[in-house]
Amino acid sequence: MSLVENLKESVAYIREVSKLRPRVGITLGSGLSGFVKGVQVEATIPYKDIPHFSPSSVEGHPGNLILGHVGQTPLVILQGRIHFYEGHTMDKVVYPTRVVAQLGIEKLILTNAAGGLDPDMQPGDFMLIRDHINLTGTNPLIGPNISSLGLRFPDMTSAYDKEMVEKAASILRAKKIRHSVGVYCGVTGPTYETAAEVRYLHQIGGHAVGMSTVPENIAAKHMGLRVCGISCISNLATGLSQSAITHDEVKETASRVEKEFIEFLSEFISGL
Ligand code: HPA
Repeated sequence: MSLVENLKESVAYIREVSKLRPRVGITLGSGLSGFVKGVQVEATIPYKDIPHFSPSSVEGHPGNLILGHVGQTPLVILQGRIHFYEGHTMDKVVYPTRVVAQLGIEKLILTNAAGGLDPDMQPGDFMLIRDHINLTGTNPLIGPNISSLGLRFPDMTSAYDKEMVEKAASILRAKKIRHSVGVYCGVTGPTYETAAEVRYLHQIGGHAVGMSTVPENIAAKHMGLRVCGISCISNLATGLSQSAITHDEVKETASRVEKEFIEFLSEFISGL
């Protein structure tokens, strides 16, 4: 079956489970899945039940598609994502993003845990993504273009929606939550970076580095969505702190800021 037919089947299955028509989508990164606590949930659908979805095998990434409301805003949540380093093709990595786009959302929020490249950052800070650098060595749009989804050569001038970034920044400022606005470097992982790679990423203009978000952003922009990206700086990148990076540290930092994150996101999404 073609990708377009698969997407139709996935969407039909989700619509059979719930009539809710989401306007906004959010993908939750490592350790950030607790956001669901602040949502009026209408339906929780395990990825394994949705036709053509791949299960996520990473700890800290439960695989559920959730429909619900935050305030008046109807929302679809991807609780857990599929990563390229798990061995999935890029098509599989961006499949859930394409499904939520086809559910009819206008805006997508991508969240992640990331390493801070800027020595002024502290673990637990947030970074609103102003732009990204794709360092994965590939692109989810490689292959025949599916013109019903989008253009062959999508423009990336507004890869991250300025208005959404400004709205998010003003909420973070008002709540006195430490944050910055910067450039996200998307790599494949699964190794964390070497110290030399971290110096390189900072020199080419990056402020945070992580193993997700870039492919999803590309697939979402292809389909015409407005996208906002939020990194939780879970650790300083290699060489900027004395200690080794572990996935446990990444999850611990994210769960330490969970309460702030939920409060911020609830206000942000209610206003979208
Ligand atoms: N590097 C890459 N990805 C990450 C990091 C990091 O330091 N922290 C969380 N995800």
